[in-house]
This record gives sequence, C-alpha cells and structure tokens, in this order.
Amino acid sequence: MKLIFATNNSHKLTELQALLGSSYELLSLNDIGCHEEIPEDQPTLEGNSRQKAFYIFDRYGLTCFADDTGLEIDALNGNPGVFSARYAGKDKDSNANMDKVLNQLEKINNRKARFRTVITLIIDGEEKLFEGIVEGKIIREKRGKGGFGYDPIFVPDGFDHTFAEMQPDDKNKISHRGRAVEKLVHYLKSL
Ligand code: IMP
Repeated sequence: MKLIFATNNSHKLTELQALLGSSYELLSLNDIGCHEEIPEDQPTLEGNSRQKAFYIFDRYGLTCFADDTGLEIDALNGNPGVFSARYAGKDKDSNANMDKVLNQLEKINNRKARFRTVITLIIDGEEKLFEGIVEGKIIREKRGKGGFGYDPIFVPDGFDHTFAEMQPDDKNKISHRGRAVEKLVHYLKSL
C-alpha cells in the first residue's frame, strides 16, 4: 500500500520505513512532487498535524498522514512543546535549542519531560488521530552522536543512555514516534 508521509525529513522517513515494514511503500513530499512550504501555524501538535495532512489531501486526494512532535518539559510548563523546532530562533538549530533548554533548567531539579507525537491520517476523506508518548528526563549535558533534535539531552525512563547514544532500532522501539506509528500501522492492518 502506498502512503504519503507529509515530510522530507530523511531521518524520519528512514525511521518510519523501518517501522512500517515492507507491506507499505512510504512516499515523501519530494516523491509526489510537492515542493511548497506547508503551513504549520497552529497552537497545538494536534492542530499542526491535522493542518499538514489536510494540505496534502486537499491538493492530491491521496491517502496521507502527517506528524507533529514536541518535547514537553514539566518545569517549563510544557515548553518547548509546539515550538520545539524553533525554540531558540527561526533557523531550527538543534544545538541552540538544546542550549536554551539546558540554560533554562540550570537551577531546576525537576527534569521530567516527554516527547509527544501526534499523527493525523486521512483515509477516504476521514481523519484519524494517533498519539505516542515517551516519558523521560532532561540531563545536564549533551551525550551521544546519533539521532537528531533534542536526542542528546533526553534519557527515556528505564534507560541510562540518551536517545542519541542508542542504536536507531532501539530508539524506534520505545520512541514517541515509534509508538504513534505502531498505532497507525495497527489501524491500517485492521482495515
Ligand atoms: P517534528 O514535528 O517532528 O518536525 O518535530 C519538531 C521538533 O521536535 C524537531 O525539530 C526536533 O527539534 C524535535 N524532535 C522531534 N522528534 C524528535 C526526536 O525523535 N528526537 C529529538 N527531537 C525530536
């Protein structure tokens, strides 16, 4: 089955294709010739994933899904949340984003945080929402070279390594996106 994933992020496409397995052919925005900047200006993760998915569905009429992820830190009232990509400014600089978080939490002992992913699937014009959460904590320095985004400062509950120190497969098994995709795949297989 062909599925459009409304992204060109190669990290995510690789992660997701591995999770989806061979029964699904994942197409990116480039694969379908969509080169526009898709609006993403809603105040919630749910709103953004829905906005992106409908943008593609309305123009291409194909089965598609979009995701939106945020890192929610309790001591920062859920921030960076929906602002995760551009927390330190508009250039989406992961190092600057992590530095901002580490500075804000410098004198704070409550390090509790979670990654939350929301996926909106549009199939036959109907929308379905899938959520995946991984709870964890923000450590005090960056560790590891793998992954992307905030991975070097996030240690999932029950583990000693950051997401950036884990093998991609190990991260996929427990990650927010992995869990949301698992629900998506379960739904698609039930059709
Ligand atoms: P997006 O909605 O997936 O584009 O995610 C928004 C932002 O959240 C990204 O730019 C990253 O900063 C962060 N993010 C999303 N997924 C991950 C992840 O798996 N690890 C670390 N950071 C992530």
